[in-house]
Amino acid sequence: MRMTDLIAKKRDGQTLTTEEIYTMITGFTNGSIPDYQMSAMCMAILLKGMNEQEILDMTMAMTYSGDVLDLSPIEGVKADKHSTGGVGDKTSLVLCPMVAACGLKIAKMSGRGLGHTGGTIDKLESFPGFSTELSEEQFFENVNRHGIAIMGQTANLVPADKKLYALRDVTGTVPSIPLIVSSIMSKKLASGADVIVLDVKCGDGSFMKTPGQALDLAENLTRIGRRAGRKCAAIITDMDQPLGHAVGNALEVKEAIAVLNGEQEGDLLELCLALGGCMLTEAGFAASLEEAKGMLIQAVRSGKALEKLAEMVRAQGGDDSAVYHPELLPQASIQAEVPSRNAGSVSRIHAESVGLVSMKLGGGRATKADVIDPAVGVVLHKKLGDTVEEGESLATVHANDPERAAEAVALLQDCYEFTSGPIVRPPFIHQILRSEL
Ligand code: URA
Repeated sequence: MRMTDLIAKKRDGQTLTTEEIYTMITGFTNGSIPDYQMSAMCMAILLKGMNEQEILDMTMAMTYSGDVLDLSPIEGVKADKHSTGGVGDKTSLVLCPMVAACGLKIAKMSGRGLGHTGGTIDKLESFPGFSTELSEEQFFENVNRHGIAIMGQTANLVPADKKLYALRDVTGTVPSIPLIVSSIMSKKLASGADVIVLDVKCGDGSFMKTPGQALDLAENLTRIGRRAGRKCAAIITDMDQPLGHAVGNALEVKEAIAVLNGEQEGDLLELCLALGGCMLTEAGFAASLEEAKGMLIQAVRSGKALEKLAEMVRAQGGDDSAVYHPELLPQASIQAEVPSRNAGSVSRIHAESVGLVSMKLGGGRATKADVIDPAVGVVLHKKLGDTVEEGESLATVHANDPERAAEAVALLQDCYEFTSGPIVRPPFIHQILRSEL
């Protein structure tokens, strides 16, 4: 079987067989198929698409390109969550302890961030001493004992995706549904959880710009997850502004603690209740979304959700005192307000640009080798629909360098758009896709 023939087959809109797809992924992973041929194949897939069986074959071939975690030493149902990526997305920090406090086991592998802000792992490392480099045995033991553990992805988890994503990133082939689905679902399947809940973003700063495109992606993700034998649900949410208020690692941890403390409501809590609701119902812990949300709210009110976060931080070697005293988390030396140049209602906040401001302050990585400053970032005071007076503070910049702080203030002023009339706010949760229970 020659790769040239497979490329031509897909270019002409034909269907690849299971064997062809396995041969292609194995050859690309072991280096016998060169990048230039795989790039051509990715472009052919982007232009001609794949049917459901091809996407499933691609996903399974990628899943088995490296280590596949067997979570059977952990008793009971195990749940995991994935987000297609967003600015200010600290959902896992809130959702995982909330769900674990309701008794459902969270066995989660997370990544570091590249771009915008850090990933969940970077955010958790704001707790001094916190380690995500757990051995498999420690990971299993922590989940069995505490009901929750979050570890970094093992080096050999889906090596096909590491190579393929790097290639797609530089060949204009990221926004292809078959390629996104196989990339995301191979990592989730290899991580071993029984229940997978997906947060699919749409709008500015996400791959899918419209709710229709996001629905297409969500339907494909859940279909492949179920065909691979997992319980799977997806939520389509709006990314036309950053999630919550904080963008930046320790600042996001502080915000997550405020939600777990019951001190902050709004879009972040709404999302965690919806995702957590799907997890608990898919796992059979609740009969309806309403019942599940009631359990999650009770976990917050009773203090059990916050205690679960502290328990996880302790179990992974971190200092949990910051959970109860967030002022102990890393703090930036400069706090600069961002005065509004206009008066009116906020009609738009360019989420991606806010993420880039945080990255320029040192809160994200431009290259893999960059070191993150956990203390820096942005806290937004004004969100969509809020009214603002001229000169009123839109946000606070947290910085450790005066020049970068001044630059961030100017850039953030440009992230906001205003209107004089009232604005119609889009629904934050567009749709929830659940299994037929
Ligand atoms: N996230 C992934 O992990 N892979 C993609 O292809 C897109 C988003």
